[in-house]
Amino acid sequence: MVETRLIDGKAAAAALRARIAAAATEIKVRHGIVPGLAAVLVGDDPASDVYVRSKAKATREAGLASVEHRLPAATGEAELLRLVASLNADPAIDGILVQLPLPPQIEPQRVIEAIDPAKDVDGFHPQNVGRLWSGGTALVPCTPYGCLMLLRETLGGIAGAEAVVLGRSNIVGKPMAALLTAADATVTIAHSRTRDLPAECRRAEVLVAAVGRPEMVRGAWIAPGATVIDVGINRLPDGRLVGDVAYAEALAVAGAITPVPGGVGPMTIACLLENTLRAAEARRR
Ligand code: GUN
Repeated sequence: MVETRLIDGKAAAAALRARIAAAATEIKVRHGIVPGLAAVLVGDDPASDVYVRSKAKATREAGLASVEHRLPAATGEAELLRLVASLNADPAIDGILVQLPLPPQIEPQRVIEAIDPAKDVDGFHPQNVGRLWSGGTALVPCTPYGCLMLLRETLGGIAGAEAVVLGRSNIVGKPMAALLTAADATVTIAHSRTRDLPAECRRAEVLVAAVGRPEMVRGAWIAPGATVIDVGINRLPDGRLVGDVAYAEALAVAGAITPVPGGVGPMTIACLLENTLRAAEARRR
């Protein structure tokens, strides 16, 4: 049986958060500035509430300032856009995150495009998306950024590697493909309409699963020795948290794999702090 390496996202995230805290201290001492992150939550979706709380806690622990705006579920788009405009204009705010999904009366793309691209720590604004694909300096979406860091730590370089990204969302799949392309991998984006998903996945030396379907990727879909990054966090009816990859099956084949929980999840929040720090530095350059 293959010896599969577990990719410890918790440890990698702790190390990254410690580096961010040190950098935040230095900015404070040198410039008297505490970088600030504003998180906006509309409505009371329990999962979003958990995310926003843990983001705020990690922000404070890294020595950054955290501001939370909680608006009722019935909030209109115009009111949310007014809040975004005030955060854009607020010199104490370096990063703005509007938690998705938004209630149905609000068009998410209009909100994303209203955020100052220099404060867009989610990296969802078209200006950042365009810069990511065209090689400029961009704020990069946190989850794929964290995945790339884990891949670099696990494999060193990924130049020339066959990479398959399963999922084509704007939050994970598409920016992941952009980052892997920039890192010189050969990238395939596979999705629900792909003709033969198992065959596509089996070609992958690097497989990133981001479809939000519990344990969809079976052991037989994985090439022996492949590095598997599981972005999924799915709650089963029995309460268990599982990824998009059938973990026990994958362990028998993969060369390295991220566990769920404790893999990609902790890196996402650490990368949000990293983006906030980068945004704060860039705005004061
Ligand atoms: N909802 C799920 N993931 C994300 C994310 O990365 N950013 C925001 N703003 N909302 C999310």
